[in-house]
Amino acid sequence: MKILVTGAAGNIGMHLVSHLRTKHTVFGTCHQYNPNGDLVSMEITNLNKVQKVMDELTPDIVIHSAALANPAKCYENPSLAEAINVLGSHNIAKACALNSVRMIHISTDMVFDGNKGDYDENETPSPINVYGKTKATAECVVLNTLATAAVLRTAIVYGTGSGMHPNFFERLMKKISHGPHKILADEFRSFVYVEDVAIICDRLASGSHNGIFHIGGQKSSRYKFVCRMLDHFGIDKRNILPVTIQELNEESPRPADLSLNCSKTMETVQFSPASEVEGFIKFEKLLDLK
Ligand SMILES: NC(=O)c1ccc[n+]([C@@H]2O[C@H](COP(=O)([O-])OP(=O)(O)OC[C@H]3O[C@@H](n4cnc5c(N)ncnc54)[C@H](OP(=O)(O)O)[C@@H]3O)[C@@H](O)[C@H]2O)c1
Repeated sequence: MKILVTGAAGNIGMHLVSHLRTKHTVFGTCHQYNPNGDLVSMEITNLNKVQKVMDELTPDIVIHSAALANPAKCYENPSLAEAINVLGSHNIAKACALNSVRMIHISTDMVFDGNKGDYDENETPSPINVYGKTKATAECVVLNTLATAAVLRTAIVYGTGSGMHPNFFERLMKKISHGPHKILADEFRSFVYVEDVAIICDRLASGSHNGIFHIGGQKSSRYKFVCRMLDHFGIDKRNILPVTIQELNEESPRPADLSLNCSKTMETVQFSPASEVEGFIKFEKLLDLK
């Protein structure tokens, strides 16, 4: 298969490219960062540019990972979030429809409000922050534009990124020895190892699946997850301080329990994410902890 991955220098995009390249012909697109010089520049808010790249590369499927994926940045600049997350996704879906190309749209657990947790694929999105609202709108726009689209809502991922947009875990590992670090004890997510998102995208792409899918690991509070990870890495936890969402008092509202129910997806694609220990072992190998 010929696969085009948008946001290929991002935390998830870089793993999509490296995993999918073992089996398929893969092209990656970027916006500002092209770490190895092998990505194609494609501003997703520009439909002509998107169409031009699609015409040149003629993919069988697009895995759309590009986004403004930082909730605080979306809060600071809602019109930019709307442009990248909604218009950008719409452009990709339109170009896919025009070229009869399938699409996997990467979405997020943050389309939910976090009031109940254990969200399955049939639940109605109820986002409470700008990021979640733009991603929920993007899902509708993509599904309404392209009949052959799959939406993959992923839980928060852990693992290394490209360093261009350092993720929570990369920032944590850099700062941990430098002083106290507040971690939420009452925020619950289904932490998933980043490579598993790539594996499930491959299964969705290869199996011609359309509709909405969830991927996530076991539910945990962020604080407890981080503690177990640091224990596994043999890193002192004294700088980790548990705080509540209320105490942290961020500007962008944070949903409390975004745990995902992934049973339907796991059954459909016949895949279970790595256990926490397996994920920690893989992550540790990629970190320079010496
Ligand atoms: N990371 C997570 O834990 C997580 C959890 C749930 C869902 N997701 C979803 O997964 C996807 C990937 O997230 P991520 O964490 O990998 O994000 P990321 O590291 O911030 O990467 C985002 C990518 O989008 C590209 N991009 C941004 N604006 C663009 C534009 N106008 N035109 C073209 N490309 C643009 C960036 O390109 P440049 O590098 O060139 O700027 C970057 O490569 C997103 O859809 C996000 O909503 C992520």
